[in-house]
Amino acid sequence: MSLLKKFLVAFAGILLAFYFYSGRDVFEPAMLKGKRVLVTGASSGIGEQMAYHLANMGSHILITARTEEKLKKVVTKCLQLGAASAYYIPGSMDNMTFAKQVVKEAEHLLGGLDMLILNHIGYTYFNYFNGDVDHVRDLLEINFLSYATMTVAALPMLKESNGNIVVVSSIAGKIGLPFAVSYSTTKFALDGFFSSLRIEFNLLKTNVSITLCVISYIDTDTALNTVAGVIRQPPAPKEECALEIIKGGALRQREVYYQYQATKIPLLLRDWAPTFLEYLLLQSYDIGKLKKKELLPTIPLKETRSRK
Ligand SMILES: NC(=O)c1ccc[n+]([C@@H]2O[C@H](COP(=O)([O-])OP(=O)(O)OC[C@H]3O[C@@H](n4cnc5c(N)ncnc54)[C@H](OP(=O)(O)O)[C@@H]3O)[C@@H](O)[C@H]2O)c1
Ligand SMILES: *[C@@H]1O[C@H](CO)[C@@H](O)[C@H](O)[C@H]1NC(C)=O
Ligand SMILES: *[C@@H]1O[C@H](CO)[C@@H](O)[C@H](O)[C@H]1NC(C)=O
Repeated sequence: MSLLKKFLVAFAGILLAFYFYSGRDVFEPAMLKGKRVLVTGASSGIGEQMAYHLANMGSHILITARTEEKLKKVVTKCLQLGAASAYYIPGSMDNMTFAKQVVKEAEHLLGGLDMLILNHIGYTYFNYFNGDVDHVRDLLEINFLSYATMTVAALPMLKESNGNIVVVSSIAGKIGLPFAVSYSTTKFALDGFFSSLRIEFNLLKTNVSITLCVISYIDTDTALNTVAGVIRQPPAPKEECALEIIKGGALRQREVYYQYQATKIPLLLRDWAPTFLEYLLLQSYDIGKLKKKELLPTIPLKETRSRK
């Protein structure tokens, strides 16, 4: 008994030491002033809000997404809000040549890079997995491989600036969720890649931080339209979500949890009570509200591509 007590006291001591040692720095908007930041998927949603926060903080901003009209508007607003400079490049992240080109442009336009915020995602359906493995592959290209490609391309610049890589993931990248099989797959891939890479950076004394953001349901137009009534929990505000992501990146945190309870509690249950967690999760879904048209598992409609 007393041995157990000693052990517990020692353990608590170690935890406390870690807690204080791991430098809980305080965030200041001035941390981003004059920083050169690239944000992907910034024509709408959380990415757009991150661009506005960065503009308020006086950063140099380069944004990208496919829709030029929207990007143009976001850049105009960024300049009004006080961005040190703001540029956009339109293109699709299913194209790895484009992904590399965006990073090259950051070098030309901003003269280097302090923070790389990877945030874009491709379109996916919200329903039972329909058997379309080609869709999983396509989504992996956009949601995962372009992230890896941009990271590799940006690393020389980030090493020079002791910069930050910020990866926007999801609770679906930590816990399997129904009706988002393909999406969840791509988000789990991000955790594998970036969490492993972070340890190698430490070993190699590569002073580039990696922040993986575990995000719950947020009130972006895409999310609201996609899950339309199926998820019962109320969505959290995209503006605050965007700010928490930037803070986590600037403070070089390993992971960001937003909203905290909506992500942390399921994560604590995940390894200790997975069946209970599944039960709780299903309580928060109104399965009857899934779109009927897509309800039954179907044979892929797309032609199967031959690959060597
Ligand atoms: N909203 C949520 O509930 C929620 C929850 C957890 C995690 N997240 C994560 O938060 C991030 C942002 O989500 P959001 O809700 O803000 O989504 P969103 O509003 O739909 O924004 C997605 C962005 O990606 C761009 N995009 C789409 N397809 C693209 C492609 N093929 N190539 C390049 N860019 C493309 C879109 O612009 P274009 O259409 O103009 O290309 C848009 O700028 C994502 O990583 C998402 O997984 C969101
Ligand atoms: C891929 O991106 C590159 C660079 O932006 C571009 O030149 C090329 O046309 C794109 N390819 C496709 C298939 O869109
Ligand atoms: C890593 O970079 C950060 C940000 O510039 C700096 O505060 C920190 O001292 C650096 N650490 C090392 C070990 O060089």
